[in-house]
Amino acid sequence: MRYTRMPIEIESPEEIGYSTIRYNLAESSIRDIPLGELNLNLNDLVLSYGHHRGHPDLLDCIASESTVLTPADVLVCSGAASALFVVATTLLSEHDHLIVVRPNYATNLETPRAINCEMSLIDLTFDEQFALNIEQVRQAIQPTTRLISITNPHNPTGTVIPETVLNELVALAEAYNCYLLVDETYRYLNFQTPLLPYLAQKSKHVISVSSLSKAFGVPGIRIGWIICRDASLMHRFLAAKEQIMITNSVVDEQIALHVLQHQASQLAEAHQHIRTNFALTQQFFAQTPYLEWVEPTAGVVCFPRLKAGYSLNTDNFYQSLYSAYQTIVGPGHWFEQDKIYMRVGFGYPTTDELRTGLQNIERCLEEHIKP
Ligand SMILES: Cc1ncc(COP(=O)(O)O)c(C=O)c1O
Repeated sequence: MRYTRMPIEIESPEEIGYSTIRYNLAESSIRDIPLGELNLNLNDLVLSYGHHRGHPDLLDCIASESTVLTPADVLVCSGAASALFVVATTLLSEHDHLIVVRPNYATNLETPRAINCEMSLIDLTFDEQFALNIEQVRQAIQPTTRLISITNPHNPTGTVIPETVLNELVALAEAYNCYLLVDETYRYLNFQTPLLPYLAQKSKHVISVSSLSKAFGVPGIRIGWIICRDASLMHRFLAAKEQIMITNSVVDEQIALHVLQHQASQLAEAHQHIRTNFALTQQFFAQTPYLEWVEPTAGVVCFPRLKAGYSLNTDNFYQSLYSAYQTIVGPGHWFEQDKIYMRVGFGYPTTDELRTGLQNIERCLEEHIKP
């Protein structure tokens, strides 16, 4: 495995220091919460190894979202990040081929690269509203294709793949006897529509990955999961998990269980906040002369770009945005895109912080832009 550190992690807010950032528009989640807010007493919890698949109540709770899934279809991992790692390292070797949509969360690209497998990239473009073209996926399939990897809702654009296209992708995976990996880390951030069912419900050829990190303010407990109805594949995923970490932290699992059992009220509050901030973000993009966006439909991020006709020294801009305005966003290179693109997160900041953060982006652009 050839590991390289990813810019999105090297330059992440937690690595540069939360205390140095006043207007944090770089996050793809809602605001983190203190443990005390959960009113949870864990004094009697025995700090033993946990269940290898995940605490049975947690597996139950996750599977109970669907009438099709059972707890045996669920494997709890340490965040979606380790779930994605388990999937990639179980399914792929250097002789295998996979298809990955880009831009994407860096791990979905970097772990296959670390394995050194052959990869076809499907580039989503601003001009096509970041929509996935199923024909491009079909044409990229090879005899050695093991995996088609997508993210839905999408990071960093906040777009959602229509159900008809998802169905076509499932049919492709079945027809070519490969797996469709759907990174559904943002599934609870559907602030405009009902919660989407896990795509893994539909076929044994689909692997869904999800997480508690984005919608509940608890990324620090590192709980995510894999869902797949292929029992023999789940057995291999469990073997991978056991070799990496044996079990999850029992403390994390208890907190996760509590969060999921109280999800309805937490999500109602989170979605309300997101809707308020989304409206503000819409107003901003309706009036800013410098940036254009594809309006997101779910999640808490969007991926605007500098309008044509302007020229910008992007490195100076991002540096000054941070040092002079204490504001950060996710520059395009976090997603292997030009730095005239930036990911703006509107769910993490308070409404006041978002307002000022967006104003800061505009002021800083004004200072650095050349017509
Ligand atoms: C699409 C996607 N997948 C996975 C992850 C990792 O999430 P987790 O904190 O659950 O490991 C992220 C985090 O930003 C993400 O955006």
